[in-house]
Amino acid sequence: MNRLSQSVEPPRVLNIEDLRRAAKRRLPRVVFDYIDGGAEDESTLRANCRAFETVTLRPRCAVATPVCDLRTTVLGTEVTMPLILAPVGSCRLMYPRGEEAAARAAGEAGIICALSTLSGCRLEDVAAASGGPMWYQLYLVGGRDCALGGIERARNAGFSALIVTIDTPVAGFRERDLRNGAKELLSGNLGAMLPFVNQILVRPRWLVAFLADGGLMKFENVVIPGKGPMFYADVTAALEQSVVTWEDLKWIRQAWNRPIVIKGIHTAEDARRAVDIGADALVVSNHGGRQLDGVAPTLCVLPEVVSAVGDRIEVLLDGGVRRGGDIVKALCLGARAVLVGRAYAYGLGAAGGAGVARAIDILRADLVRTLKLLGCASVAELDRSYVDVPADWLKE
Ligand SMILES: Cc1cc2nc3c(=O)[nH]c(=O)nc-3n(C[C@H](O)[C@H](O)[C@H](O)COP(=O)(O)O)c2cc1C
Repeated sequence: MNRLSQSVEPPRVLNIEDLRRAAKRRLPRVVFDYIDGGAEDESTLRANCRAFETVTLRPRCAVATPVCDLRTTVLGTEVTMPLILAPVGSCRLMYPRGEEAAARAAGEAGIICALSTLSGCRLEDVAAASGGPMWYQLYLVGGRDCALGGIERARNAGFSALIVTIDTPVAGFRERDLRNGAKELLSGNLGAMLPFVNQILVRPRWLVAFLADGGLMKFENVVIPGKGPMFYADVTAALEQSVVTWEDLKWIRQAWNRPIVIKGIHTAEDARRAVDIGADALVVSNHGGRQLDGVAPTLCVLPEVVSAVGDRIEVLLDGGVRRGGDIVKALCLGARAVLVGRAYAYGLGAAGGAGVARAIDILRADLVRTLKLLGCASVAELDRSYVDVPADWLKE
């Protein structure tokens, strides 16, 4: 076991917040804040986490549950637990070949990993590293032909579902990135970079690893016809020109004959539209509070969405999951599984694949313990009777 792997072992790292602190120690501020931050006042980011505190558990005591069954299926795929690694862009800034490291940890744990379009590693290499179930997340950056190229490559590489993110018509206003000089550092202009380089120089271990990994990545899965992979600095402008509309979802449905997951559902109305266009699953998600600040926390919206769509589509949730008990609460309110973004990105930033594996282990151990304390033998048995929910969340 190397030094970094040891650094995320217990008792040093017992929970996701410990991984967050470890990531903060290893990463330059500009990279840590890219993971940790949210849009504008970050009120939705905080609310996502707090919503889990508002729902309380109703245990059945004096019940023996010697074994707890965490297994479930998501879109027909058998998984060892109801946890999915969410698409997180630019993982290669967090750790060398970061997307491959995360996918490998997910594959070893028997859970699904969703790869972002904005990945630094080629999707074929990530699929090969994983060996487990993989989903490909689609942004239309680079235009339709470019997206079709990505879709074709994802199909050939064996990705089993396409996850289309619909809440990014423009990048959210992430003030920490601006204050840290993310734009200047990407500009390649030494004069502009100079006021911001100190935060990088004080993290020499990260810097050496970053340079050994080839330095600033390109987006290997966004291949612009006639030009090649998209440059990192071009992404913000490209995102603004690549709004996904319900019309686009129709041609995406035609172009991809495996399951489609729509990510970024905030309301019952959009959930019904997702059903109408033939999606197979949806993710109640506000992008972890990174897009429109001031929207409701996802856990709070979940009952409304579940009652709007019934069992016509699988409902997933992300946003604010930091404990196994949070997963239990989301399942009690009707989610089939949850996605986590920051929980594993902190692990990746702290210690690469070992940190991601540690994040998954923490959530798995939490989940088993919470089920035992609840007196519930399996995730399949979780329902509303195990939680108390604020009455105004339950508008039918
Ligand atoms: C650093 C970072 C990068 C992200 N990049 C993407 C992305 O490229 N595509 C996407 O659909 N969502 C992206 N997300 C959003 C996640 O998929 C997910 O919705 C969110 O992280 C869930 O909230 P949580 O971080 O509280 O778990 C990103 C999130 C983070 C933290």
